[in-house]
Amino acid sequence: MTGFVPGLPSLEAAIAVAADAVLGRSPVRVLDLGGGPGVLAERMSARWPEAAVTMIDIDPVLLALARDGVPPAVSVIDADLGEALPINDDSIQADDSKLLAEGDTVPDDVLRSGALLGDALPNGAPSGGARSGGALPNGALPDGALPNGALPNGALPNGALPDGALPDGPRSDGARSHGALPADRGYDLATAVMTVHYLRPERIRALYRRCRRALAPGGLLVVADLMPDDGLPSVMSALNPAPGEAAAELAWAQWWGEVGEASEFAGLMESRADVFRSRPPANFAGSVSWHVAAARSAGFREAGLLWRDGRHAAMAAVA
Ligand SMILES: C[S@@+](CC[C@H](N)C(=O)[O-])C[C@H]1O[C@@H](n2cnc3c(N)ncnc32)[C@H](O)[C@@H]1O
Repeated sequence: MTGFVPGLPSLEAAIAVAADAVLGRSPVRVLDLGGGPGVLAERMSARWPEAAVTMIDIDPVLLALARDGVPPAVSVIDADLGEALPINDDSIQADDSKLLAEGDTVPDDVLRSGALLGDALPNGAPSGGARSGGALPNGALPDGALPNGALPNGALPNGALPDGALPDGPRSDGARSHGALPADRGYDLATAVMTVHYLRPERIRALYRRCRRALAPGGLLVVADLMPDDGLPSVMSALNPAPGEAAAELAWAQWWGEVGEASEFAGLMESRADVFRSRPPANFAGSVSWHVAAARSAGFREAGLLWRDGRHAAMAAVA
């Protein structure tokens, strides 16, 4: 399952080609932020079999699906991207405190007209559910994830979990929730696909700073989200909604509805409501120029547009 991203395969190809080219080799340490059920992490692991891929998310339902479905090379960590990354590094945590204390320093010329994609869902569910605005966890439904059928990894929203699915049990990778990543900072690639709009601007800026510290020099951050081009407001407006967006939103709302009705997921759905009750999606849709400015001020030496499809875009930044 992925966020609604028109042309998702081309985005994934752009990430992979850019990472290989910038690094001059395949990445060996990869971080996927807000990885949801782990589909992108799994794909990156398949593309780069030598890589250790770590995905972070906070949604108990999606984490359970990820833990059940990802291969051993993918580690799944339960953590809040609005807070410090689970990295054992005091200097990073100190930087985080300072940055968050400074508050939101978004320049006035930042595009704000699209800042609200919509209201938070009831119970604080991610905006990838039923609301408009393109924040679907899965617009272009992934392989095997069907609007009215199987969940990713084969779990059925209205049926039993597949063998080995452990929504309330131990993690498939044996790690503890809220565990810590290794202390070194050598990540080659960090991705965030349809994730950062959940966070308030100051939290995104703090996250970029943490990512810059977590990446090895020359490492790549790719952030894909609803990122309008503030130089083309009428074009952006005309492209809203993207083809297929409404249908994808409906499919995704139905998917969550089916999950919510499945008794197997009742406990996880309650946990999920608890998680997002205090973290309603910010639905922030900063322009590419906003994200580029945030990345540069976080210390990335380069930042710019890597990919665009309509109102969705991916910013790449080099640490
Ligand atoms: C629209 S989904 C995208 C999932 C995945 N990146 C993909 O492309 O399939 C956004 C993800 O961000 C996660 N998320 C939102 N806020 C978060 C937070 N504060 N900390 C960690 N993950 C968060 C959600 O749980 C959800 O899995």
